[in-house]
Amino acid sequence: MRVGVLTGGGDCPGLNAVIRAVVRRGVADYGFEFVGFRDGWKGPLEGLTMDLDIDTVRGVLPRGGTILGSSRTNPIKVDGGVEKITANLADLGVDALIAIGGEDTLGVATALTQLGFPVVGVPKTIDNDLSGTDYTFGFDTAVTIATEAMDRLHTTAESHHRILICEVMGRHAGWIALHSGMAGGANAILIPEVPFDMDEVVGWVNSRFETNYAPIICVAEGALPKDGNLITKDTTLDAFGHVKLSGIGEWLAGALEAHTGHEARTTVLGHVQRGGSPTAFDRVLATRFGLNAIESVKDRAWGTMVGLRGTDIVRVPLQEATGTLKTVPIERYREATAFFG
Ligand code: F6P
Repeated sequence: MRVGVLTGGGDCPGLNAVIRAVVRRGVADYGFEFVGFRDGWKGPLEGLTMDLDIDTVRGVLPRGGTILGSSRTNPIKVDGGVEKITANLADLGVDALIAIGGEDTLGVATALTQLGFPVVGVPKTIDNDLSGTDYTFGFDTAVTIATEAMDRLHTTAESHHRILICEVMGRHAGWIALHSGMAGGANAILIPEVPFDMDEVVGWVNSRFETNYAPIICVAEGALPKDGNLITKDTTLDAFGHVKLSGIGEWLAGALEAHTGHEARTTVLGHVQRGGSPTAFDRVLATRFGLNAIESVKDRAWGTMVGLRGTDIVRVPLQEATGTLKTVPIERYREATAFFG
């Protein structure tokens, strides 16, 4: 069998570990051949390929990013996009595709499966917001990076008696903020799922200063004040209809300075959270996903995605994974509030 592999959407530490596991087991155990598609769905759409064999994947386990490249190309939005993909796959003799991606990339995989394409999905996102899996690889790395940043922000905040705000990624789901904020001892965690009350945040900040500590606030880029609007960089949309976020941290610094009289500074972690080497946890999870994805191909389990349930790798319908986002449940957020203020 000739198997195509692509990585789509925002890159994520652990992508290369998945590719390596897919190829290593696919070649050694099943004698499969591989075609690497470049830059997400742009690859099959435009016939952009690269060699993918055991030699190509040697040494990539600890490497961040993706050797295949990525993009946010949405072939469904391109005129005749699906037909072009069908023709290119046929020309290249590709019998099956493994799509490694998040909500958008796997959304396209779901649509193509419904049209009869043989596709298997692997969940990827630092945001951890895909349903059908307890965790996605990349999340642990992002949380580790954000936690280390907050550890550092504590000492400079104390020295200058300042409010320090750490803005982390998380468009619709506050998983990175919740976990890194808890691990990093933030005095407030603000997430998209729970619009925040400015008076309450001011109260937490003031009470923190009263105990002679300086407050650290961990805010997800998609968090917004009650009765306020989402803060965006501009109004342009990508191919999947997303605006560019970031700005809530700066906004919050201004508002808190005005309300508390204390100096405030913001650190926006941005793409630092996505770059570099994956943690050991993410390397293992990504490797297990890869090994199981190629099993799914061998079993012709088209239209499924591998996922983590507890400590087991399971197969779930792609539709289940992309139907609704996995947001932070209110009970999980309430646990964290014990440490606010
Ligand atoms: O990977 C998902 C994500 O990290 C979101 O949290 C964030 O809004 C988005 O990527 C930003 O990615 P880019 O700058 O690549 O569009």
